[in-house]
Amino acid sequence: MQYVRMPIEIEAPEQLGYHTIDCNLTESSYTDFKFGELGLNLDDLILAYIDHVGHPGLRKLLSADTGGKIGPDRILLTAGAATALFIISTSLLDRGDEMVVVRPNYGTNLETPRAIGAVVKIVDLHYENSWKIDPESVMRVVTSKTKFVSITVPHNPTGTMMSLESLQAIVKATGELGIPLLVDETYREMAFCLGGALPYAATLGDHVISVSSFSKTFGLPGIRLGWLMTQNAKLFEKFFAGKEQIQICNSALDEEIGFQFYQKRAQFLPRILENLKRRHDMVSTWMTAHPYLEWTKPTGGCVGFPRFKNANFNTEKFYSTLNEEFKTHVGPGHWFEQPKRYFRLGYGWPDDVQLKRGLANIDAAIQKVHK
Ligand SMILES: Cc1ncc(COP(=O)(O)O)c(C=O)c1O
Repeated sequence: MQYVRMPIEIEAPEQLGYHTIDCNLTESSYTDFKFGELGLNLDDLILAYIDHVGHPGLRKLLSADTGGKIGPDRILLTAGAATALFIISTSLLDRGDEMVVVRPNYGTNLETPRAIGAVVKIVDLHYENSWKIDPESVMRVVTSKTKFVSITVPHNPTGTMMSLESLQAIVKATGELGIPLLVDETYREMAFCLGGALPYAATLGDHVISVSSFSKTFGLPGIRLGWLMTQNAKLFEKFFAGKEQIQICNSALDEEIGFQFYQKRAQFLPRILENLKRRHDMVSTWMTAHPYLEWTKPTGGCVGFPRFKNANFNTEKFYSTLNEEFKTHVGPGHWFEQPKRYFRLGYGWPDDVQLKRGLANIDAAIQKVHK
């Protein structure tokens, strides 16, 4: 493995120190919960090694969410979606193997296959095409040597969704070739603009692998708890072996917190989605007829990916003014292998006041560049 640190991690707010930032519009999750807000009881928790697959009660709840289509024995709990993605890549790829992945994307989906030394065939998405993941464009680069195809829906960093028909088309096309399809659906529940989430992708075919976690919709990235799901027994066994070799089992503490939270998620979810929707509307209003910025309006997730209308805008000066003078941060394009003309704007994490101030600071920094 040839590990290389990614800009998105090097420049992450937690690495810079949250206290150095006033308006944090970099995040791709809902506002982090405080432990005390959750009302959990952990006194009887025994800090032992736990079930290697993951908390049976939590897997049962997740299985029920899939309508029982994915059994608890085909759900592997992992240390965040990031570890699930790592397990999948390292299980399916050896050096020189070919895989297909869309870009822009969450960095790990590109970087782990590269670290393995795989041949990474990239399908670039485009602003001009509303960042659509077009099944035909993806399948055009797939060959008989492709070990797996990797997509992210709802999409990070653009917040765009696939229609169910498009998702089904790519499931069908990969299925006919017998190629595993990884669907990173870490933002799945945040499909508020379409009136509901897509089905768990793994329910759509035996060759499909779903990945998600507690980090984004539930605002619990600090418990490092996620999962992968697949109907396919052989794939599952391989992924399970990978997990055991990496970590044996998850943290007992993280899983118990995740389990108790998930039991009462109905108490939290409506307020989360309501807040997300309101913040989404705030940003949409700000973007409407914006003199300097344009975007594809997000339909899911909690991020958008605006760009400067002027391709030659002085982005270096913009980002340094925004960060240093206004203590406001967004995710610049290079975090996603895109020009710095683009930036990811996370609107789910800051409260309304901080978000409003952050948007005003972006405008003020743009004005300063123009002076
Ligand atoms: C699309 C996507 N997948 C996976 C992850 C990893 O999330 P976690 O490991 O916190 O569950 C992220 C985090 O930003 C993401 O955006």
